[in-house]
Amino acid sequence: MKEIKVGLIGFGTVGTGVVKILQKNSKLIEKRMGARVTLKRIADIDIETDRGVKIKPGVLTRRVEDVINDPETKIVMELIGGIEPAKTFILKAIRNRKHIITANKALLALHGDEIFREANRFGVDVNFEASVGGGIPLIRSIKEGLVANRIHSIFGILNGTSNYILSKMTDEGKAFKEVLKEAQERGYAEADPTYDIEGIDAAHKLAILVRLAFGTPFQFKEIFIGGIKEITPIDIQFSREFGYRIKLLAIAKLDQGKIEARVHPTMIPEGHLLSTVDGVFNAIYIQGDAIGPTLFYGQGAGQMPTGSAVVSDLVELGRNLLVGASGRRVPLLSYQESAIEKVPLKRMEEVEMPFYMRFSAVDRPGVLSTISGILGKNGISIASVIQKGRQINGAVPVVMMTHEAKEENVHRALKEIDRLKMILGKTMFIRVENGLE
Ligand SMILES: NC(=O)c1ccc[n+]([C@@H]2O[C@H](COP(=O)([O-])OP(=O)(O)OC[C@H]3O[C@@H](n4cnc5c(N)ncnc54)[C@H](OP(=O)(O)O)[C@@H]3O)[C@@H](O)[C@H]2O)c1
Repeated sequence: MKEIKVGLIGFGTVGTGVVKILQKNSKLIEKRMGARVTLKRIADIDIETDRGVKIKPGVLTRRVEDVINDPETKIVMELIGGIEPAKTFILKAIRNRKHIITANKALLALHGDEIFREANRFGVDVNFEASVGGGIPLIRSIKEGLVANRIHSIFGILNGTSNYILSKMTDEGKAFKEVLKEAQERGYAEADPTYDIEGIDAAHKLAILVRLAFGTPFQFKEIFIGGIKEITPIDIQFSREFGYRIKLLAIAKLDQGKIEARVHPTMIPEGHLLSTVDGVFNAIYIQGDAIGPTLFYGQGAGQMPTGSAVVSDLVELGRNLLVGASGRRVPLLSYQESAIEKVPLKRMEEVEMPFYMRFSAVDRPGVLSTISGILGKNGISIASVIQKGRQINGAVPVVMMTHEAKEENVHRALKEIDRLKMILGKTMFIRVENGLE
């Protein structure tokens, strides 16, 4: 039986999942790959803790160099996370002509250019199936299964924590802070949840998807990012009255030669499949010119699902090695390196969509006509209005759904409206996405 020797850096949640899968399904993987995978060295700062898996003597090491300098090891898995020292380890391993597997979306979103350039220079692969959508086989699907398609748009629920919080708020009518606390107690949210609730984690993943889908040297900082902290149970309730659900959606579109890339709470039609994706689950809805709409759904995190994606990368690289493919059978970012070219970005101010707006107004005649006058002056037309007598902190909510409006016009109008004496608090607005057919 042939043997593929691999090394692992980071014996934490995902690293342990990988080891468990390689042990539990070793025979199955052998049958599918045609070789045995031998985990030659595992490096971690902590090699004392019992991870619940049996490791042969001499495999564990505290020295990362033992993994990246091992001449027998062909593939190195980086599963420590964070920017440094992960980036340095990966670059060193690439220069030692190791193929790389990583689940590190933050690193790829921020420093992917350098890593992919170096991998191309040294003729090695960088596989990153686990970096977006955890266990969902998405990256390989975009690179290979959807290769025939011009991709028009991607809509993703890419962060389990924020989806869990919004789902709970929707189902139980609880406030954001209360649900966040519960999520932290259940281990669904980190002690510092900033990346999840502010949309940063979803944006890291979107940055990777934009490059794969559109073949552009896209930068993370080009994404417009908004989080879910401001969403209240009242807005969730009103959105349902309009027939929508609120999701933290990562959106990428290619429209008339320009890319739109944004992450923010979004109202999506209640009947749409994405609106039914609840709890910690992830889903990615991709529209291609030949295939039409496709939906990928599954666990976006967790030890075993993420481990599944890492092992799938391992088997792909192993299969390549076995047939003598020297690397990069599939281009690292789906497009040939020489074909990657800048696609212009649509500025957020130019983006047009319908908006939900909730004004906190005094209970007095004339409020509606004043608001609609200012909106009209800014080219924003109202599609429907809900006005209820109930008071919230002395103000009456006036809730509207607009027709398509330009983002910059909405900001200008709301600035003027929020200065009015009859408006008692900052107006809440949520972007709406109807183009999900
Ligand atoms: N967990 C998930 O569900 C999930 C899902 C998708 C993607 N990912 C990605 O997968 C990667 C790993 O995540 P994880 O959840 O497995 O993290 P984790 O549980 O914190 O594991 C990381 C491990 O690496 C070790 N480590 C840190 N710095 C090191 C260094 N300099 N040298 C050697 N070992 C070092 C850590 O040791 P200490 O604990 O002692 O610091 C820890 O054992 C991250 O990029 C993450 O974004 C995770």
